[in-house]
Amino acid sequence: MNVIKRAILAYKTLGRKAFIYRVFNFFNLKTKNANSLNFSNKFKNHYDAIKMQYGTSEPLVVDKISDVLLRDLKKLIQDVGDESVITTLLNSKDDKYLLIDNHANSVIQELDINLIVHPIHSINPMQETISRLHKELRDTFKAYIKSPFVIVNTRAWSTKANSSKFGPSLMHNDGFEPGHMKIMVYLTPLNDEYGYFMLEDDLINDHPAGTSICFLNSDIEHAAVPGNTYNRISIEVTLMRAFVDAPQFNMGAFFGRHALSPEVVYDVATKMINK
Ligand SMILES: [Fe+2]
Repeated sequence: MNVIKRAILAYKTLGRKAFIYRVFNFFNLKTKNANSLNFSNKFKNHYDAIKMQYGTSEPLVVDKISDVLLRDLKKLIQDVGDESVITTLLNSKDDKYLLIDNHANSVIQELDINLIVHPIHSINPMQETISRLHKELRDTFKAYIKSPFVIVNTRAWSTKANSSKFGPSLMHNDGFEPGHMKIMVYLTPLNDEYGYFMLEDDLINDHPAGTSICFLNSDIEHAAVPGNTYNRISIEVTLMRAFVDAPQFNMGAFFGRHALSPEVVYDVATKMINK
């Protein structure tokens, strides 16, 4: 989104006083990087090498996190609270690690109507509960992912009940660069009241709170179906298959997709290991 569009959006949503304050902070608003990168074949070449070494991962695996972790994640979501999508956008900063989605104004408005952000992306991912989530997901899914992997982003939101069909709730694939997968963790049950997950050939419905789904998010068409009564709380963990296992060292971003390149992932992992 360019600066003028952001300014109009900020004026409309924040009101005059807060807008003027934002203008004083104008130089903190930086253009996002999503449209300015040329990946060449870095991700593809890296992924080809991963596949040659470790084979392809299972396309879709459904499991469940432990009850203790589910309880603690619900508390974490309560503790971080709610944030509007527009506030999250206005608070977002330039990112040297993650590729950031550069949504059109109309998409932001639609997301703002339908989603509530829970800003766990602003917490250090080495923090206790998020770190435990990552470890438990690694233990559960590593046999199906089949290669080492690095976690690159973690974010959380609620999908409002009866929200309209748009973006994530229409059948789509995420269009990430090769080598990525997502793990969705639902803190509310998957059913008609809370909403469920739809795949090309499958429905993941009538599952308990704590259900986790690891899938090839850019190969399998999918859609998040909103509930007809309650909001659904989701946590999304994005991983890059790699030659080494590493936790998420970088801070997350709500509009983050994946790392800028495979090298930045290895660079950060190497720096942290050598610390
Ligand atoms: Fe998606």
